[in-house]
Amino acid sequence: MAKDPGRVLIFDTTLRDGEQSPGASLNLEEKLAIAQQLARLGVDVIEAGFPFASPGDFAAVQKIAENVGGEEGPIICGLSRASKPDIKACADAIAPAPKKRIHTFIATSDIHLEHKLRKSRKEVLDIVPDMVCYAKSFVDDVEFSCEDAARSDLDFLYEVIESAISSGANTINIPDTVGYTTPSEFGDLILNINKNVPNINEAVLSVHGHNDLGLAVANFLEAVKNGARQLECTINGIGERAGNAALEELIMALHVRRSYFNPFFGRPPESPTPLTAVRTEEITKSSRLVSNLTGMVVQPNKAIVGANAFAHESGIHQDGVLKNRLTYEIIDAKTVGLSDNKISLGKLSGRSAVRARLEDLGYDLNREDLNDAFARFKDLADRKREITDRDLEAIVSEQVQLPEALFQLKLVQVSCGTSLLPTATVTVVGEDGEEKTSVSLGTGPVDAVVQALDSLTDEPNELIEFSVKSVTEGIDALGEVTIRIRRDGNLFSGHSADTDVVVAAAQAYINALNRLVASQGRKSIHSQDDDLAKVCKKWIK
Ligand code: KIV
Ligand code: ZN
Repeated sequence: MAKDPGRVLIFDTTLRDGEQSPGASLNLEEKLAIAQQLARLGVDVIEAGFPFASPGDFAAVQKIAENVGGEEGPIICGLSRASKPDIKACADAIAPAPKKRIHTFIATSDIHLEHKLRKSRKEVLDIVPDMVCYAKSFVDDVEFSCEDAARSDLDFLYEVIESAISSGANTINIPDTVGYTTPSEFGDLILNINKNVPNINEAVLSVHGHNDLGLAVANFLEAVKNGARQLECTINGIGERAGNAALEELIMALHVRRSYFNPFFGRPPESPTPLTAVRTEEITKSSRLVSNLTGMVVQPNKAIVGANAFAHESGIHQDGVLKNRLTYEIIDAKTVGLSDNKISLGKLSGRSAVRARLEDLGYDLNREDLNDAFARFKDLADRKREITDRDLEAIVSEQVQLPEALFQLKLVQVSCGTSLLPTATVTVVGEDGEEKTSVSLGTGPVDAVVQALDSLTDEPNELIEFSVKSVTEGIDALGEVTIRIRRDGNLFSGHSADTDVVVAAAQAYINALNRLVASQGRKSIHSQDDDLAKVCKKWIK
C-alpha cells in the first residue's frame, strides 16, 4: 500500500487548474487573496500556478510563496512540465516559501505520446528519472503526475511510477485528465497501482480528475477507499472544460459520511477524528470569494455552496424540518459557515465595529484597505438600512479587484422608462487622471451604459454574459452583477455589487475592461467628441 498519512491530504488547484477555466483569469492581488483564504480553509497544499507559463504566473506564484503559508501553513506548490527550463522556473518561483513542492508531469497514455508528445514509451521512461532528479536538486518535496493516467497502458504506467519513486518522487498523482473513467474503474486503477508497483509504499498516492461525465467526486471517493490519500480539487469545482472535482463536495462527503469511510483508514466507524484538516466553516466564504473574483457564478442547485443547497421549498419538507431538521437535512448550514447572523451593522456603526466584523469573517485588512472598505460601507449604509455579512463580503471582494484599475468610473446616470429612449451619461477617469464624459442611447439602460463606456474606452469586445443576482433579500438588497466580455477568443470577467443594479453593471463592465486592457498593455481614454457624434448618429436619424 502507498504511504498513508492517516488522513486525506487536500491539494487545492483552484489557482492553477481552476484558473484554466475559460474567462477565469485572476490578477496578482486576487490570486493572493484566494491563496490567503485557502490557508484559512486549512488545505494541505496550494498549487499556486504554472510559473513557466507566463511572467504573470511566475510573479503570482512567487508572491504567494513569499506571503502565504509559513511553517504551520500549507505547502506552496508550482506546476512544471518534465523539462529543465520549466522545473527551474518553478523552483525559482516557489523558493521563498518555507514549505515548498515542485509538481512535474508528463503524459503516459499512447494517445498523448503519439499525437501530442511524439515520443516513444522508451523516451518517456528516460525523461522521468532525469526530471524527477532535477526537481529533487531544488526541493525535498517532489510530486510526479502521469498525465492521462486513466487511459494509459497499465504495465507502462506501473513502470513509470516505479521509476519516478526510485528517483525521489514523494507523491505520485494519477490524473483522469479527460474525465473518462467511472468510479469502480478508477477505484480498481488505484488498487492495481498499489498491488503492482513494488516501491509504492515510499510515496503518497494522489488523484486528480476532471468532471466531463460529472463523475469526478464519485471517482475520488472510490480512490480513497482503495488507498489514495491526496485529493486534487478546486473550490466550486472550477477548471478546464467541465472543471475539476469540487473541494467542498469531497470535504463534506468525508465529513458527513465519516463513519462509512473510517474503516478504510483502519479506524473504527465511530471514530470522531476528522478525515481532512479542512475547516468546514470556511467553505462558504471560500466559495463566494472564488466565484466573485473569477466571475464564475455558482449554479443555485450546486451541492454544498449553491444558493438553494439549504433551502426547503415544499410544504411537506418545511413542516418536517420545523419538527426536526434531521428529517430533510443532512448538513447543518452552520457547518459550512452559513451564518444566520442577518443583521450585523448599520449607518451608525463605527470603524472598529466594521473592522471587528470583517476580522470575524476572516478579512484581515491593512490600514489603507480598511479605510477603503469603511468608506464603501458608509456609502452603502446611507442607502441600505441593515448591512449583512454578505454585503460586507461583496464590498471587500470587489476591493481586491481595484489595484489594476486603469479606467475608473466617476459617474453614471440613466434615464429610461415606458416612453423614453434609454439614455446613459457616463464619466470615466483614465490612468493619467483625465476625465471624459459620453452620452449614449441603448436598447435598455444597461445597453446604453455599455455603449457609452465603449465609446470612451475604445476597446472592441463582445459582451457574452450579463447576470444579476441579489446578495440578500429585501427591496434595498445589493445587486451583484457579473459580466463577461470576449476579445480575440479570450474571456474577461468583471464583478460588482451596488444597491443600484445599473451602477453595479457599469462598474462590473469597467472591471472587465480593465482586465482586458491589462492583458494587452496600457491605454488611455481617447477624445469623446468624435465618439459622441458617432454613437448618437447611430440612433438619431
Ligand atoms: O488534468 C491533468 O492531467 C492535469 C495534470 C497537469 C495534473 O491537470
Ligand atoms: Zn487537470
